[in-house]
Amino acid sequence: MTYRTNLLLIGLLMAVGAVTTAVAQDAPAPAAPVASAHTATVDLRRMQPIQGDAQAGAGKAAVCAACHGAQGVAIAPLFPNLAGQSATYLYVQLKEFHDGERSDPVMTAQAAALSDTDMRDLASYFASLALKPAGQADAGSRGAELYLAGDPTKGIPPCQGCHGPTGLGPQPHPSSAPPPPWATYPRLRGQSSMYVVKELGDFKSGLRGGSSNAKVMHGVAATLDDDDMQALGAYLDAL
Ligand code: HEC
Ligand code: HEC
Repeated sequence: MTYRTNLLLIGLLMAVGAVTTAVAQDAPAPAAPVASAHTATVDLRRMQPIQGDAQAGAGKAAVCAACHGAQGVAIAPLFPNLAGQSATYLYVQLKEFHDGERSDPVMTAQAAALSDTDMRDLASYFASLALKPAGQADAGSRGAELYLAGDPTKGIPPCQGCHGPTGLGPQPHPSSAPPPPWATYPRLRGQSSMYVVKELGDFKSGLRGGSSNAKVMHGVAATLDDDDMQALGAYLDAL
């Protein structure tokens, strides 16, 4: 590269920098949220398993069925399946939407009116439902390889280390000792490709944050490019 092009590049970079700064100063409520926007990080390291009334939750779940399905299996690929998910994970997510630490144009409004008891009951109800039946994931695919072994050359960790070898999340802790911090990690099996890709993108951009658990995924998502995300989404969708 010539000296001239170098200067040109530097000039360009400075111009971009100036524009970014100007935007940051002029916009009190930024349209594109970043990781640093999440000031209050919920520390989930000592999160205890939640208790809720699944039967009461069933009575409150009619409105949720419009998107998440009557049996917790979503009616469209942009909505996550809730059936069989960890109750504690579901509760934490509802509370994050309710408190504004996780935000989504649709789900934030849904969680706004829920009481703490509602959230516990709904989480217990959806957790009690049968998982979407297993699919036929392609064991030879790039997605399978990434999920099971990661890609050390790119710093991608094996997803199964935290989400379980079959995507069913961490196995229940056998002892009566306090549950380990990773007990709140979610199941991924059968989530739609579209949802998985969206969430991975949201972790990568910092749009999804709010908790110590989200911070763990920020590091993971930073190692993934678009092709990796698509491959993982396709694999999990069919798992
Ligand atoms: C109009 C559609 C709609 C309705 C109704 C709705 N949700 Fe959601 N829900 C969504 C969308 C979209 C997301 C994913 C948001 C995102 O991408 O972060 C979501 C995400 C969630 C999550 C997070 C799941 C995960 O795997 O992280 C939970 C829990 C949840 N919804 C529970 C509920 C409950 C309980 C109700 C009823 C009170 C409800 N939802 C009603 C659309 C809906
Ligand atoms: C070191 C542990 C760890 C590893 C490794 C890990 N994850 Fe996660 N993952 C988490 C935690 C913790 C959460 C919950 C984040 C939250 O609550 O916001 C999560 C959440 C997710 C979600 C959102 C689930 C939902 O229902 O919304 C997806 C999708 C996901 N991970 C995909 C992956 C993929 C794909 C990989 C492998 C490339 C991976 N994760 C590797 C810990 C991990």
